[in-house]
Amino acid sequence: MNGTYCPLGEASVPLLDPGFTRGDAVYDTVSVWGGQFFRLDDHVARFFRSCATARLSPPASADELKAILAQCVHRSGLDAAYVQMISTRGKFQSPTVRDPRLCKNTLMTFAMPYIWIIQPARQLEGIDLALAKGNRRTPPEVVDPRMKNFNWLDLQRGLFEGLDRGSDTSVLCTPDGRLSEGPGFNLFVVRDGALRTPRGNVLEGITRSTILELASDLGLKAEEADLTPDDLLAADEAFLSSTAGGVMPVATVDGAPLGHGEGPGPISLRLRSEYWARRDAGWLGIPVASLLAD
Ligand SMILES: Cc1ncc(COP(=O)(O)O)c(C=O)c1O
Repeated sequence: MNGTYCPLGEASVPLLDPGFTRGDAVYDTVSVWGGQFFRLDDHVARFFRSCATARLSPPASADELKAILAQCVHRSGLDAAYVQMISTRGKFQSPTVRDPRLCKNTLMTFAMPYIWIIQPARQLEGIDLALAKGNRRTPPEVVDPRMKNFNWLDLQRGLFEGLDRGSDTSVLCTPDGRLSEGPGFNLFVVRDGALRTPRGNVLEGITRSTILELASDLGLKAEEADLTPDDLLAADEAFLSSTAGGVMPVATVDGAPLGHGEGPGPISLRLRSEYWARRDAGWLGIPVASLLAD
């Protein structure tokens, strides 16, 4: 927390930080698996891009941030971790002065046990994905979704909509009716052996980029595209991608099986097992220990 380490349960944000009262905050989440950060440079670069979009200047360089993240993981003793870096606007100089330029921006990071937004056993059954109808994803013209930020009310409301309908989670559309993403994940659809994922109105997920690269490694066609709900409903398969859970196959959309029939599709399962086999082997990883100061 701004230069000191403490147990996660003791970490707190001051009430008057606009990061809390205004959602004036950006963040990034990187995973550690087998003692290695995954694509750490990509996550740190995306974090600083998010900061720049939000006009936040956290008090650390990229190298300093990497050392702090490593220190958090080291102190937690975790081998598989969910690791977050956050910058908030920070306290106003006085509670009655509301000029955000005068705030001292913060840097907070934490490590906690690895999170699965869908549990592995459920991933193997394939989830039921709700196509949110009553809630829309904030359009990119309003809040740039490439800036990973804490304005999550659209995603949370979409999640509640899906949970209320008995689904595992929900995917949202932007107001112009294009498929976008859901609470903590990107979406892929598979048709005739080719992968497509929404473009332009989503966070450019690091797992999403990884899957696009992995697909091309495996000789599968994969591209970003403008997609509509019909592209999901007519898909042979679909899956979600996230730092927190990897590749998560969809079995049904609003209770209706996708084209391939029961359970997860074969391409989704193949990408999922390739992803984790490679992660187990340290793919695109950097050992946490290599970033600790002597
Ligand atoms: C809105 C949103 N979309 C997509 C993702 C997936 O991004 P990544 O693969 O970098 O975890 C996340 C991750 O938290 C997210 O919050």
